[in-house]
Amino acid sequence: MILVTGGTGFIGSHTVVTLQEAGHEVVIIDNLSNSSASVVDSIQKITGKRPHFIEGDVCDRATLEGLFSRFSIEAVIHFAAYKAVGESVQKPLMYYHNNVGGLAALLEVMERHSVRSIVFSSSCTVYGEPDHSPVTEQTQRKDAASPYGNTKRICEDILRDVTATGSLGAIALRYFNPIGAHRSGLIGELPLGVPNNLVPYITQTAIGKRQQLTVHGNDYPTPDGTCIRDYIHVVDLAEAHLAALNRALTCAMDERYEVFNVGTGKGNSVLEAIHAFELTSDQKLNYRIGPRREGDITAIWAETTLAEQKLGWRNRLTILDAMRDAWNWEKAIAN
Ligand code: WQD
Repeated sequence: MILVTGGTGFIGSHTVVTLQEAGHEVVIIDNLSNSSASVVDSIQKITGKRPHFIEGDVCDRATLEGLFSRFSIEAVIHFAAYKAVGESVQKPLMYYHNNVGGLAALLEVMERHSVRSIVFSSSCTVYGEPDHSPVTEQTQRKDAASPYGNTKRICEDILRDVTATGSLGAIALRYFNPIGAHRSGLIGELPLGVPNNLVPYITQTAIGKRQQLTVHGNDYPTPDGTCIRDYIHVVDLAEAHLAALNRALTCAMDERYEVFNVGTGKGNSVLEAIHAFELTSDQKLNYRIGPRREGDITAIWAETTLAEQKLGWRNRLTILDAMRDAWNWEKAIAN
């Protein structure tokens, strides 16, 4: 049985589908602070198998103890965390308590139940504003631009220190920018309120939920003046988790703590992303150029050789596939 914390969330739900399709039994724990229990029904519709679901908080040791006593957990994939960069600036303690405290509680209970493998949801945000791209796993991590980014860095350090002694094996996956949705249109990104991220804002503008997209600055030192990111399809990202889980479970790891970039290795600007959407949706997007957004970095994209070599994984889908699936999802939830 694989425990997926945060398994009703955007990346978590797509990973649960991939795990089930690979034959794994899954139990989800999620406090539904940024998702809905109906996602469990959607997962069952896609795979024909209903994952076990416990509504609860990974910070609550008693809940975790009950779960680990009830289910025979082989490994954990840990997504449960708050992830809104701007909110983390306003509420840092909430982020440190939940994101760092939650990992600490989880690791304590895993140790008590001799569960020795964890795959952790990290982020390219630990690189800060890199001196150049693509970034490799050896690229110097920089001071995080937000408490959210700092919680990811601290969690990586906790895993590094805990695996240095004892028997835990940990793989941290540094995501770049996850976008898209499952091709079925049954699961996808469900931002509560006004989306911070680019692609849900694009699709909500296209469907008429938002008046107009604002491009946050076109005076950056990039070819078209807008920021560059590595947009990875969420289904590819889910498959990277399966590859990491298999590596951890088959004791194929070279070290007890390993880190992998999970991106496409290709950078796209905001305008390129918009044009990719227009191409797949066959419609013009209503956008304007506005001022820069506080905290945005100019450019970052991944060097993905290590994940290819050690995980046997690389992305299969493109930004066009992701925009097609994101648009399909937006239309599905509009009905
Ligand atoms: C992408 C680009 C914006 C919205 C964040 C987190 C990162 C990860 C992914 C969790 C930027 C521009 C956006 C809009 C715009 N999350 N943009 N208009 O900031 O690269 O990364 O989400 O792990 O940790 O930091 O993603 O989608 O917010 O922005 O012009 O309405 O799109 O300025 O250049 P970001 P994003």
